[in-house]
Amino acid sequence: MKIIFLGAPGAGKGTQADIVAEKLGIPTVSTGAIIRAALKAGTEMGLKAKKFIEQGALVPDDVVIGIIKERLAESDCAQGYILDGFPRTVPQAEALDAMGISLDAVISIEVPDGEIVDRMSGRRVCAVCGSSYHVKHNPAKDGVHCDKCGTELTCRADDAPEVVKSRLEIYHTTTEPLKDFYLAKGNLKLVEGVGTVEEISGRTLRALGVQ
Ligand code: AP5
Repeated sequence: MKIIFLGAPGAGKGTQADIVAEKLGIPTVSTGAIIRAALKAGTEMGLKAKKFIEQGALVPDDVVIGIIKERLAESDCAQGYILDGFPRTVPQAEALDAMGISLDAVISIEVPDGEIVDRMSGRRVCAVCGSSYHVKHNPAKDGVHCDKCGTELTCRADDAPEVVKSRLEIYHTTTEPLKDFYLAKGNLKLVEGVGTVEEISGRTLRALGVQ
């Protein structure tokens, strides 16, 4: 299956993508995670993206489209994938069309802005394997270290309240219009994103027709 996960920053795209990807046996392709890894490694692309990420702005379309073309050409994507965080603009969605990719579903996880602010302030992440936790709603077993690889958890720099505000504004003006783009193509499915992680996985899998 080829699936897109849309939603505001902090809507739970990464959390749900990991669960659904494991269930379907396909990889998650997260442009945010790829960019953060490049930033950490100090590559040319990471350096180009640094100032955009830090300000909560979108990385330029040509950079992100290049990342996606390279990643989707890898062998583990041959049987399908979940795109988490791509596309985020109409030109990015058009680039996906131009690549001849036929999508099975576009899942939009719907969460009100007030809840997003709470989720971001409690998010803790593993800088090594990318796993995401929440101090209250999805805590690591010991509250401090990643359950998967044991690394000490940290806060994401772009989860600072002023940066979250700007990321939400960009979501509403630039990314949310993609819902109309995919509604017109007939493959948009809205999933209510408030509830427990398990409740939302159940809704997502039902929307995909796999449960
Ligand atoms: P990216 O990493 O994609 O960030 P985002 O879309 O802003 O999404 P997040 O990762 O913040 O949230 P999420 O929806 O995955 O939520 P999560 O599951 O972690 O992008 C970062 C930056 O990279 C962008 O700002 C941009 O600069 C750049 N970029 C990336 N892609 C780009 C593109 N295509 N074009 C241009 N620039 C791009 O959950 C959030 C928190 O809530 C966690 O703590 C989690 O544990 C908790 N949680 C999850 N589910 C629940 C629940 N049901 N109840 C309570 N808490 C929950």
